[in-house]
Amino acid sequence: MTETLPDFFGDSSVISDPKRYFDQMRSQCPVAKERYHGTLMVTGYDAATEVLNRRDDTFSSAVSVIGPIPPLPFEPHGEDISEQLEAHRSALPWSAHLATFDGAKHAEYRGLVVSLLNFKRIKQNEDYLYGLVDRLIDRFIGRGYCNVVPDFAHATTTYAISDLMGIPEADRAELLQLIGAPPSQIAGDAPHKIGPDPLVFLKPRFDQYLRERRERPGTDLLSDLANARRSDGSLHDFEVVSNLARFIFGAGQDTTSRLIAMAVKVLGEKPELQARLRKDPGRIADFLEEVLRYDPPVKVVYRLARKNTRIGGVDVAAGTIVTVCLTAADNDPARFENPQEFNIDRPRLREHMGFSRGAHACVGAPLGRLESRVAIERLLARTVEIRISERHHGPPSARVYRFEPTYTFRSLSDLHIEFTAA
Ligand code: HEM
Repeated sequence: MTETLPDFFGDSSVISDPKRYFDQMRSQCPVAKERYHGTLMVTGYDAATEVLNRRDDTFSSAVSVIGPIPPLPFEPHGEDISEQLEAHRSALPWSAHLATFDGAKHAEYRGLVVSLLNFKRIKQNEDYLYGLVDRLIDRFIGRGYCNVVPDFAHATTTYAISDLMGIPEADRAELLQLIGAPPSQIAGDAPHKIGPDPLVFLKPRFDQYLRERRERPGTDLLSDLANARRSDGSLHDFEVVSNLARFIFGAGQDTTSRLIAMAVKVLGEKPELQARLRKDPGRIADFLEEVLRYDPPVKVVYRLARKNTRIGGVDVAAGTIVTVCLTAADNDPARFENPQEFNIDRPRLREHMGFSRGAHACVGAPLGRLESRVAIERLLARTVEIRISERHHGPPSARVYRFEPTYTFRSLSDLHIEFTAA
């Protein structure tokens, strides 16, 4: 049990500097219980791999989005809590959505999502993306200034996933407003986030899209989803496709938006890296992999131990919520040499856990990679120098960045840059 560290789930100092917390935690023990919520923090790379790659049913993803808050709606007892979990599953936060499913149900619906996000569809999105990103840059290039989070990162990813899904163009700007910033997890205003379906506010609109496409199918993702069939040839339940549609939309925009904003922040702090990537845009993909390792959009994912087990040699009781700290694993000096150094030339760059691992690893990774690459490629091509705005973030020696108060995600609230247009 770690005694001296702040509350990862409640202390705002951890929001601004999560790596400090992770480093302290890992140096005490790469698998250790924290004292505030009783969750097991896994901060070492090997132990995190062990949990995420476990293929049997030892770990459930039922708590994968929100972790130990709120606590389980039952008091776990015994060596195997599977029955208790199933009896309470539908009351758990996010239980309507794919990320929390387990076993055969998860495999079936994940397979469907994978087939929808196929290579051809992503390739088509690439053409749209180049035009989109240039149109967004056109809006601010003349000003020499941009707030990257709403005006570039967020707009790129929300419009891109909307186009890929086939959401009517007339609705996209409104959806961008509606989806907004991630709600706080720290300041206590999270209740609507912890129901079984926190994306319910999108339901009337998405259900309408799906109904229309069941009547008049087109070639877009929503049409394929609305008319997808089970292995016995029957149409999927409407509620199933309704939940999947909203989850794909939600998952498809916010994490990539966070990656783009973080990537621009790194570039703003590193003029020499900007110059290098402008000369050699072929390395932008590697640059983004290093951002995903160094300071990724998803800091932690969660699993629930169904059965008594061991992680990294530590005994874990059934009912324990395990917090797998992706950022900590990716900054583990036992795995990455000089992890605090941002280095796009490091060997085995792609072995980071930014997209998680195992059965629930991100199915949108190719799309996230594509969107962020196009965004950064065009921004670099259309500027000669990107600078962090000192007026908003202070001088280089005393920068101030604001992050959304969420312990799960690493999400810049805003990022103000100035630049010289190319
Ligand atoms: C840079 C961008 C992205 C990052 C860093 C990211 C990160 C992640 C992570 C860490 C998970 C795993 C959660 C777990 O292990 O419990 C995940 C799952 C998922 N992601 Fe992404 N994601 C990104 C982009 C996308 C995009 C563009 C989409 C697509 C439309 C998407 C769709 C999904 C879905 C559907 C899952 C659930 C998979 C499952 O539970 O089987 N993601 N993502």
